[in-house]
Amino acid sequence: MRIINQAFSVDFQYPVYFTNDLFAASNSLFANFLNKHRNEAIQHKVLFVIDKGVTAHHPTLKSSIFTYFKALNGFTLVDTFIELTGGEEAKNSYKPVDEILSAIDKYGVDRHSYVCIIGGGAILDMACFAASIGHRGIRHIRIPTTVLSQNDSGVGVKNGINLEGKKNFVGSFVPPFAVFNDSGFLNTLDDRNWIAGVSEAIKVGLIKDHDFFHWIEEHAEALTNRSAKEMEDLIFRCAEIHLEHIRSGDPFESGSSRPLDFGHWSAHKLEQLNNFALLHGEAVAIGIALDVVYSHKINNLSLEDAKRVINLFIQLGLPIDNKHMTTVTSDNPLLLGLNEFREHLGGRLCITLLEKLGRGKEYHEIHTGKLMESIQFLKNYNAED
Ligand SMILES: NC(=O)c1ccc[n+]([C@@H]2O[C@H](COP(=O)([O-])OP(=O)(O)OC[C@H]3O[C@@H](n4cnc5c(N)ncnc54)[C@H](O)[C@@H]3O)[C@@H](O)[C@H]2O)c1
Ligand SMILES: [Zn+2]
Repeated sequence: MRIINQAFSVDFQYPVYFTNDLFAASNSLFANFLNKHRNEAIQHKVLFVIDKGVTAHHPTLKSSIFTYFKALNGFTLVDTFIELTGGEEAKNSYKPVDEILSAIDKYGVDRHSYVCIIGGGAILDMACFAASIGHRGIRHIRIPTTVLSQNDSGVGVKNGINLEGKKNFVGSFVPPFAVFNDSGFLNTLDDRNWIAGVSEAIKVGLIKDHDFFHWIEEHAEALTNRSAKEMEDLIFRCAEIHLEHIRSGDPFESGSSRPLDFGHWSAHKLEQLNNFALLHGEAVAIGIALDVVYSHKINNLSLEDAKRVINLFIQLGLPIDNKHMTTVTSDNPLLLGLNEFREHLGGRLCITLLEKLGRGKEYHEIHTGKLMESIQFLKNYNAED
């Protein structure tokens, strides 16, 4: 027998910038970043993929990018923007990935080039995946435009699309080259997309930072009234907790532990059962409410603490129940979802619940009876009681 044991490690680093009006001529952040990584012997190409939902609300965005790049030496802007329909549709087939790969080929976007993606979490997940497989990986820069993508999905390392009827069935763990969170995009979100992303902040507060959870409670009114300052602070803190978790834990999720998936085992199933009419953040609100009540049913949380979380969702206008949550035990879609999640993890369930407000704890079994009681609790819930 002969053997060569191979081992090496790769250091990943990427900055997450917070700014406003990224492509204003007076904002040199993006240009400085590109120049810092410029190789003078090479003309770097830059291909933009943009969410149509963004261009519809920011009609001068494309011309601002053109003007911005005219002043930049060493970079060639691909003068055709790849504009794609945003929302879950972007992730529900391989077609948009194929479109981006064709553009990468057609415009000679090589491994010294950049793919810059401007859009919500769905476009980012899909287009970052395309960039991560083109030429075995082209540098991608993320410019998230929703609350959820700025505080959660856009700052992490996961890319992917839904295939075979399963969320994120095909994808990659490839970190971005940089992330630019531009608060100017948030103004044009509709009310549902504005508030839905707050669920992910409540999630990290509940599993990792009680003070942050409390901060969200205290600023719930300002957040529902669309106060930009509070939302920017929420996004910053949520992104910070997220990044800290990724760098200190298991960034490429080789183990079964997924604390950041708190509230998500049912959320992913509910999104799909509702044909994605339920936004990801809305589904996460329901999923968290369910896991919070379950955490109460197994005596980890007091009734009062469980109600604090549920009342916060209600105050923010987020849902805590859905028609696809039923207490019928045969063929219950959520129980099927639980099994799918178990399969996804390789046979052993690993679900984060709450040990107390501000601290998550892993469990390997879910008690069906208590889960049904939790569903019923949410169906009967009346904030006044
Ligand atoms: N990769 C990860 O780690 C991760 C984590 C959480 C969620 N996600 C994924 O993120 C997706 C949800 O992302 P999302 O909540 O950002 O929503 P989204 O990407 O589905 O976008 C929602 C809608 O808003 C529009 N839009 C985007 N930016 C806008 C703006 N500035 N103004 C007006 N309209 C705008 C889009 O066109 C779309 O119609 C889901 O697919 C979810 O699975 C991924
Ligand atoms: Zn999520």
